[in-house]
Amino acid sequence: MTQIVKRNWIINGVQKECTMHGLARLVDILRTEADMTGVKEGCGEGECGACTVLVDGRPVLSCLQNAAAVPDGSDIMTVEGLEQTAIGRALQTAFTEGGAVQCGFCIPGMLMSAYALLAKNGNPAEADIRTALAGNLCRCTGYVKIIEAVQKAAQMLRGEDQ
Ligand code: FES
Ligand code: FES
Repeated sequence: MTQIVKRNWIINGVQKECTMHGLARLVDILRTEADMTGVKEGCGEGECGACTVLVDGRPVLSCLQNAAAVPDGSDIMTVEGLEQTAIGRALQTAFTEGGAVQCGFCIPGMLMSAYALLAKNGNPAEADIRTALAGNLCRCTGYVKIIEAVQKAAQMLRGEDQ
């Protein structure tokens, strides 16, 4: 028998009740029930990182995450929520101004992984950034501008971007 469950989450700062099949994936519920279409599905197999969202601050591959297993009260941030935060705004500015966005498909996941890094390390070394983004694949670039953009965002947040 089909098991339907309801979850109450805080999505980008707003409480939202979502109804789902017990086997639904988080990526699908966020895109359809919560209308967060900034969350992208690339591979659907946990390889590309395009679907990365933050659940209680932790990067999660939403294509592999069973939605019903995300408990009531969880705080979920998608790319749509970045604008509400200083880290998110710095990342958006640095990626845009630094020419780090090409087709853009990988960027929501990149930004979420970068956000999680900068939330715990305001002065990451290049190796830290490469490690944080290792699970996010981009078909368009050699990652150089993406890494520079994360460094630039960190500098902006430290007030060193003049
Ligand atoms: S879509 Fe989830 S890792 Fe590729
Ligand atoms: S910008 Fe195109 S896949 Fe990354």
